[in-house]
Amino acid sequence: MATHAPDLEWLPGDVPRAEGFDDTYFSKAGGLNETRHVFLAGNNLPTRFQSRSSFTIAEFGFGTGLNFLTTLAALKDVPAAPELLFVSFELYPMTKDQLARALGAFPELNVFASELTSVWAPEAGWNRLSIGNAELLLGIGDARQMIGELTLMDPGRSGGTTQIPPVDAWFLDGFSPAKNPELWDEDLLRQAANLTSDDGTLATYTAAGWVRRNLQSAGFTVEKVGGFAGKREMVIGRKG
Ligand SMILES: C[S@@+](CC[C@H](N)C(=O)[O-])C[C@H]1O[C@@H](n2cnc3c(N)ncnc32)[C@H](O)[C@@H]1O
Repeated sequence: MATHAPDLEWLPGDVPRAEGFDDTYFSKAGGLNETRHVFLAGNNLPTRFQSRSSFTIAEFGFGTGLNFLTTLAALKDVPAAPELLFVSFELYPMTKDQLARALGAFPELNVFASELTSVWAPEAGWNRLSIGNAELLLGIGDARQMIGELTLMDPGRSGGTTQIPPVDAWFLDGFSPAKNPELWDEDLLRQAANLTSDDGTLATYTAAGWVRRNLQSAGFTVEKVGGFAGKREMVIGRKG
């Protein structure tokens, strides 16, 4: 599948909507608070950052980078914060201007947003960027193909794959499952589970029944909890 920048419509408040998926990148009721509720609190973050020397988060759908930058902002307030590796996938990387416009709506993230946009030049394949105290490993391409290029760290093995430590927390953030079923695919989620640490967790804003079943078949235990801004339910889970 060819990688290209998305066609966007800008809704009030500079909320980007992808025309190809007929969906917004985050909640119109407030992207920052949605990220904090769904992805951070849903994975018990930033609490789990404490007493760790390193931590790995992985995400399906980098989009505007809002989840990544909100995580960096939360990490900044943690004493003796761990080294963060944030792995994310994106098939349709935004242009620098699109990214800057979307992130401009979140003044609290300004410092990290400027750092990200100043180095933003994603190319197909794996891109490594240092932002704040974190390393961003960004796979530009279809997540369903790119995930197969990741293996768990093994000092005895070299070449051929991109090695990562076991994932401590997953941010499952494709567009709505009905519109973007590729990112909720059972085989993709199984590969995600295989890259997850034994006490690894996941969170997602959707509680769609077939997504929950795919997560369970993939090797996660899931439960429904209260969603963000009027959404009755979202899903959190853990490996096993
Ligand atoms: C809801 S948005 C993600 C929002 C993002 N996490 C943020 O913080 O702004 C979903 C993202 O998944 C991407 N996407 C959709 N299908 C994909 C695929 N097969 N592989 C990789 N990325 C994909 C879309 O282009 C879009 O950027």
